[in-house]
Amino acid sequence: MEYSFRSEPLGSFACDVAAEGVCQGAIAVGKGYLPDTISSAVENELKRRGFEGKEGDCCLLALLEQTMIRQLLIVGMGERGKMTGEKFRTLSAKILKTANGARAKDIYVHSSLLKNVRDPALSVQLLVEGMELASYHFNAYRKHTAAEEIKKRSVARVMLPSADFATRKRMERGLERGKSFSAATVLARDLVNTPSMFMHPREMAQQALKLASRGTGITCKIMNREQMEKMGMHASLAVGAGSQHEPIFVQLVYRPKAKTSKKIAIVGKAITFDSGGLSLKPAEHMSDMKIDMAGAAAVLGLFKALPDLKPRVEVHGLFIAAENMPSGSAYRPGDIVAAMDGTTIEIENTDAEGRVTLADALAYAALKIKPQAIIDLATLTGAVIIALGSDVAGILSTNKDLKQALMHAAQEAGEPIWELPLFKPYAELIKSKIADVRNVGGRPGGVITAALFLEKFVHDVPWAHIDIAGPSYAEKETRAEWPVGGTGWGVRLLLNYLASL
Ligand code: BES
Ligand code: ZN
Ligand code: ZN
Repeated sequence: MEYSFRSEPLGSFACDVAAEGVCQGAIAVGKGYLPDTISSAVENELKRRGFEGKEGDCCLLALLEQTMIRQLLIVGMGERGKMTGEKFRTLSAKILKTANGARAKDIYVHSSLLKNVRDPALSVQLLVEGMELASYHFNAYRKHTAAEEIKKRSVARVMLPSADFATRKRMERGLERGKSFSAATVLARDLVNTPSMFMHPREMAQQALKLASRGTGITCKIMNREQMEKMGMHASLAVGAGSQHEPIFVQLVYRPKAKTSKKIAIVGKAITFDSGGLSLKPAEHMSDMKIDMAGAAAVLGLFKALPDLKPRVEVHGLFIAAENMPSGSAYRPGDIVAAMDGTTIEIENTDAEGRVTLADALAYAALKIKPQAIIDLATLTGAVIIALGSDVAGILSTNKDLKQALMHAAQEAGEPIWELPLFKPYAELIKSKIADVRNVGGRPGGVITAALFLEKFVHDVPWAHIDIAGPSYAEKETRAEWPVGGTGWGVRLLLNYLASL
């Protein structure tokens, strides 16, 4: 969508939908831009319809030929002063969807909508995020005509009210950030939505290479199977051994212009398809498993926006992409494989493969990069969906400050997250009789034992693990800014976190 600032008064130019916000119990509409007679007719109509301005209530009224505004969208903002950033983003998403439903091509956002969040930059950022994220369609595999049809029926232009010079500058900054954060989220969604037949390990690496162009501050290092072998990444190679597609290691590095000693490593799970391997998944659990690289997709999304955000830290993004398939060359239950740091892993279930690849990636981060903190994002367990449902990610961490900063960043991003305990006594459950550790710990506490497994490979570097198996994919639309499919969950959390450092 295209965004522009309009300095002329609303009503003096044509627009399909003008959206005005009203607070609960203070319903005044059209002040300064509608003739008084129309304004009071609108207010009467709202009364007649029982519209009270409750948060999220939307009412669309046609103004026909009486003004240059074709339709008026009155948006309930709820009680004055109670609007939060997260609610405002969802409200913007809803406004966009309503305008699309009304076949509008353009929409004007009245200043009343932008007044209720902290500052003008943030208001505009959240507005843009809500609208961009709600208008997402994954059209790459539709007939050209079908994609065109959707485009024809969608809002193409968003007009924002102009303001005094200083405010306007801040709004412009918010606009840029909103666009950048949304584009990054959209990249992650596209990668997750792309079928595994195309989004195989080599393609994941190609996607990373594309982000490392000149002038971005980003470089990209790739290791193929032989190089991984030399590095001792036998755990990941075992996971990928059953597939026609070889595993690949990818490390993106963002270096800020001003030298810094601060380094953060972000690791994503990148199983491009999880069939379960020889511990084969039943069909109904396998059908969505192209999403099992959503952690790495979030890392790639993050790097897309880093050159815009320009954080003052060195950021390392890494993932080991592999496909988990059954075949004559596949790894087996009972096998014992060594990770990069020499820790041996007894494979009890080949479907607990994510943690086996993360073992190498985390050990690499801890021992080779030596950052101040490691964060991993992984669609790691079905158990986290049982614990927290499909909209909330789980976080487990060895460091309180890191955990709190990430939870705060998640809240700002509108990405729900909840803490689960890294309960040490459960480490008993992943003890092996013949190796250093076992890759499963039974059904009870499945999120915790998975995290305790990962902890073995972070070598005391402050670390947080985020299990995104639930919210990385929306099976149905539970909020307007999460259309069905990949959600891009985590991209904006990471951006907000890095911005806060
Ligand atoms: N990729 C799955 C976890 C998953 C499940 C992600 C549902 C998204 C939606 C993971 O590799 C897996 O299969 N985990 C097993 C672990 C078990 C064998 C210990 C699980 O959760 O069932
Ligand atoms: Zn699995
Ligand atoms: Zn998996």
